[in-house]
Amino acid sequence: MWFLCVFYHRLLDYRKPEVESLALMFGAFDSDDGGQDGGEHLEWRLPEHHHPDSPFHFVDLPSEDVARDIANRSILVKGIYELWGEGNNYEELEDAIKDYPDERKLPYLSPESTFRITVDSFGKVISFQEQNERIQSLAYIPFKGQVNLRNPDHKFWLMETDDYGTNNGLPPVVQKRIFFGREVGGADRKLLPTYQLKSRTYLGPTAMDAEMAFLMANQAMVKPGKLVYDPFVGTGSILVAAAHFGAMTMGADIDIRVVRDGRGPDCNVWSNFKQYGLPTPIGLLRADNNLPPWRPGLKEVFDAIICDPPYGVRAGGRKSGGRKLLKGVVGPYTVPDDKRTDHIPSTAAYSLVECVHDLLDLAAKMLVLNGRLVFFYPVLREDESTENHFPEHPCFVLVSASEQILSSRYSRVLLTMVKSSPYTEEIEEEARLKHLEFKENHLKWMEDGNLHSAVFSPGESVFVAEGDPKVSKETKPKYRGKYV
Ligand SMILES: C[S@@+](CC[C@H](N)C(=O)[O-])C[C@H]1O[C@@H](n2cnc3c(N)ncnc32)[C@H](O)[C@@H]1O
Repeated sequence: MWFLCVFYHRLLDYRKPEVESLALMFGAFDSDDGGQDGGEHLEWRLPEHHHPDSPFHFVDLPSEDVARDIANRSILVKGIYELWGEGNNYEELEDAIKDYPDERKLPYLSPESTFRITVDSFGKVISFQEQNERIQSLAYIPFKGQVNLRNPDHKFWLMETDDYGTNNGLPPVVQKRIFFGREVGGADRKLLPTYQLKSRTYLGPTAMDAEMAFLMANQAMVKPGKLVYDPFVGTGSILVAAAHFGAMTMGADIDIRVVRDGRGPDCNVWSNFKQYGLPTPIGLLRADNNLPPWRPGLKEVFDAIICDPPYGVRAGGRKSGGRKLLKGVVGPYTVPDDKRTDHIPSTAAYSLVECVHDLLDLAAKMLVLNGRLVFFYPVLREDESTENHFPEHPCFVLVSASEQILSSRYSRVLLTMVKSSPYTEEIEEEARLKHLEFKENHLKWMEDGNLHSAVFSPGESVFVAEGDPKVSKETKPKYRGKYV
């Protein structure tokens, strides 16, 4: 069944992946084996002459129930509609609506039902008086029910788009078109104001904004009964979104002050959940992504891992170990009992490439099969010609990559991956060797004293499975276009 899907005009790259993730979650692609191969895509069409950035799309979904579930849960979908007619002018619209089968229309026009018609526009402003005139002009539709503006049984939408000229500096994304349809489902407009960061009790400089946190949770297909882990939990904003959608949550951070103390008894990660009446995390750990605390052999525990790793654009990653410890000059030490409560272990810079390697290894091991890993990855925008190369792992298939431009130099890309093969002993051994190699490379970078490049830039091809991951003088960290 084809539906009209109208998006909010923002985060354009994130729109279709969100709908496709939700479609998968709500059973649109039900296959016999229940597995995912990253190739689950919906069929999309654009209205005539509309640009791919247009907020108006047609999408093929298996049923109205699936369409409603997606629309009600989505962050970037404004509404999904059963289209009764469209046209380039009101005459064409009337013909189209009259041609639409009565058996599709009449159940929604009955005298026992209530309804509302809303006039909406994109690319033009329609005055209140014009809106009323537009509604009156629909008199040929045999509405028999009572109007109820607050809580009608059926919501109808008349939507007009216009190309709004080209003199505002942006190319037009839509052409003149008029759509009339019945709303099948629509966005929960209270969600984002309720969770906006400015009213959050405990905030940090890198807290994830509510809209993005909900989008990430949707990419991860979070739902009740799922266990979601954030290995860089910070103030917990991603887990708050996951808990809102019914997941059990668990987080970790290298900074004990963040996970244990916050800013006091009523201003910490826990209070961020209590603020919204959400179940608190089942656990918050002080753990280093470079030295995961899991006992050997433990695997396939989490349904999704969602995170914003510390890439150094705002707050660089750190890993455990002081300079001397990492150089091997001193061995591991035991913290004396009287210093245990307040001891903050020394840390060293943690490069992007090592951090991502560790994250993929952790996710490959700890995610259930078909579990999703959703995380941000920074890219340099300088080199438009270079094709993006994102981290790869034999256990994962890339589902989507959605770019958000942060500045003239940087973008961040939200990567969604699905675990499509099990974590074998061979993969585990390969990861162990790479881990050791990183330890050595880290030493070199520390000696170079170039912490900035160690944080921002990887060496050569560390994610190419068969490649030689050794970092020599020639492959010393440097900016490498979109490889970052
Ligand atoms: C970008 S912030 C994440 C913020 C979080 N999403 C929020 O909403 O507050 C990255 C977090 O990673 C933590 N971190 C840095 N290095 C780490 C490591 N090696 N292991 C675990 N956490 C680390 C930092 O303390 C910081 O809280």
